[in-house]
Amino acid sequence: MSKVHIHQLGKVFGAPSTNSVPALQDVDLTIQNGEFVTLVGASGCGKSTLLRILAGLEHRTSGSVQCNGIEITGPSADRAMVFQHYSLYPWLNVMNNIKFSRRLRVNREDITSADVEAASGRADALLDLIGLSKYANAYPNQLSGGMQQRVAIARALMGQPAMLLMDEPFGALDAQTREVMHDLILHIHRIEKTTIVFVTHDVDEAIYLGQRVVLMQPRPGRIHSIYPVPLPAQRDQEMKHAPEFRALKAEILARIRESSGMATDQDLLNKLHRASDLA
Ligand SMILES: Nc1ncnc2c1ncn2[C@@H]1O[C@H](COP(=O)(O)OP(=O)(O)OP(=O)(O)O)[C@@H](O)[C@H]1O
Ligand SMILES: [Mg+2]
Repeated sequence: MSKVHIHQLGKVFGAPSTNSVPALQDVDLTIQNGEFVTLVGASGCGKSTLLRILAGLEHRTSGSVQCNGIEITGPSADRAMVFQHYSLYPWLNVMNNIKFSRRLRVNREDITSADVEAASGRADALLDLIGLSKYANAYPNQLSGGMQQRVAIARALMGQPAMLLMDEPFGALDAQTREVMHDLILHIHRIEKTTIVFVTHDVDEAIYLGQRVVLMQPRPGRIHSIYPVPLPAQRDQEMKHAPEFRALKAEILARIRESSGMATDQDLLNKLHRASDLA
C-alpha cells in the first residue's frame, strides 16, 4: 500500500553555480493509494525528474518525498518503473524476462521453493493478463513494439509493486496500438490495484487514463494545476468525444501552449522569414 506525500520538493542539477539547472521547485503533491495520476507538461518541465525521484533513481535537492511516511532514499522493489524505450533483455525469452527480477531475488534472499513455485504461477497469470500466453518462449526481437511493452509491464508487475511509475511508456507506439495499450493498462490497474504515476506528452492519453491530471510548467519545473478528470471510473474510447473530455483537453492544451515557449519560437520563425525576405 502506498500513499505518496511530496512536500516542497526541489531539484537542481549541477553545482550551485551559474550553470545549475533548477529542474523542480516547490512541488507539492499527495497521491492516494491505488490512484492513477498522469503528469503532462511542456518538454523540460521536470516530469521525468519527478518520476525518477519517486523511483529513488535520482536524489532530491530539497523538500521531502515520502511513501507511507518513510522518506524515499533509493530504489525499492515496491516501486517499479517502465520506460519509453523497450528495455527487455534480448537474450531471455518472454517468460524469463518476466521472471527476471524474481530470479535475482532468489539469488539474494532466502526464498523457498514454494515461493518460486508461486512466482511461476504469477508469471503465467501475468502473461495471460497481457494476452501473450502463446509467446512465452519467444524472444524480444520476435515481438512488435506493443508486445514488448506489454512484456515490460508484466515484468514490472511481477514483484507486486505498490507503485508503477511509467515514463511515456507508449510514446513510440502507433496510435492504434496505443489505444489497445490504454485499455490494457486500465484493466491492469483495476485488477492489480497498483498506484500508477504515468508521464505523457499526449493530453488525450493523460485524460483518458488519469483520475487526476497534473499539469507541470517549465523553467523552473513546477506544478501549474491539478485537474480531477470528470469521467466515470470505467472508461471507454467513446468518452473521448464527450464534452467534458474535450473541454478539459482544450483547457490543458491552452495552458501548455502558454508555458512551452512556443510564442518565442514563433517570434524566431517570423524573424527568420523576415530575414529571408530581405535576402
Ligand atoms: N542529468 C541531468 N543533468 C542536467 N540537467 C538535467 C538532467 N536531467 C534533466 N535535466 C534538466 O532538467 C530539466 C527537466 O528535465 P526532465 O527530463 O525532467 O523534463 P521532462 O519534463 O521529462 O521533459 P521531456 O518532456 O522532454 O521528456 C530540463 O531542463 C533538463 O535539461
Ligand atoms: Mg521526460
